[in-house]
Amino acid sequence: MPSKKIVIAIDGYSSCGKSTIAKALAAKLSYGYVDTGAMYRAVTLFFLQKNIFHSEKGLKHLDHEFLEEIMDHISIFFHYNPAVGFGEIYLNGKNVENEIRQMMVSDYVSAVSAIKEVRIKMVDLQQKMGLQRGIVMDGRDIGTTVFPDAELKLFMQADPEVRAVRRFDEMQSKGIAVTLDEVRNNIQSRDYEDTHRKESPLTQASDAIVLDNTFLTPAEQLEQAYALAISIIQPEEKKTQNGSDGSEKKTADLSAKN
Ligand code: DC
Repeated sequence: MPSKKIVIAIDGYSSCGKSTIAKALAAKLSYGYVDTGAMYRAVTLFFLQKNIFHSEKGLKHLDHEFLEEIMDHISIFFHYNPAVGFGEIYLNGKNVENEIRQMMVSDYVSAVSAIKEVRIKMVDLQQKMGLQRGIVMDGRDIGTTVFPDAELKLFMQADPEVRAVRRFDEMQSKGIAVTLDEVRNNIQSRDYEDTHRKESPLTQASDAIVLDNTFLTPAEQLEQAYALAISIIQPEEKKTQNGSDGSEKKTADLSAKN
């Protein structure tokens, strides 16, 4: 197993399969995995529990002091669950892994994640989680803001309709009542809000490698990402394992999508 520990930042639009690849890559490298979207979702759930919204999905006016104080009442951590193979998220000591995936949270999360005080606290937590490196972190601003020095940055893309159908299927399989139209609209509005907000908008880092998985299976996608990671972690090992011809071609194909 590779010994050098690096940070792998995976950014991209909603429902691009970031967490699927991030989880699988972390497991294959024996790295930690952090789903930063889950952290913003957990903060949103807390805001919902405290009734900090107008009914029409807007935020009430919140002043800086109030926000700083409320953020001090939020504790978020991940606890590894061997039954699922990744760290599940806890909000103030309670496992909220399923609750944060509800449509209600999805509807409000872009507004909450645009708040400066929320981002400051989450980015600080995320940087602490990656201090020892050896981590795969997915989100919107990992390669640009949280770990601009990440050794490997991937920017995930997929066709919007493919993303909507994938997310719809996933929610259905979890028994969440939702229509494809609702999922499609939610993804469209989150794409817009995530790329247009003032604080750390979603952008592709200049040194990120684009992975478009519209026509890739999760296994094919993992193979590409793993090859890239190994080429950084142990370039010599990669050559001896795969043969220099094959590995050089794979990297060149991926770089060409940049
Ligand atoms: O990855 P996700 O769809 O679960 O993320 C939920 C929301 O959180 C997303 O719409 C934008 C926000 N987010 C963010 O602003 N920054 C991150 N690093 C991760 C997520």
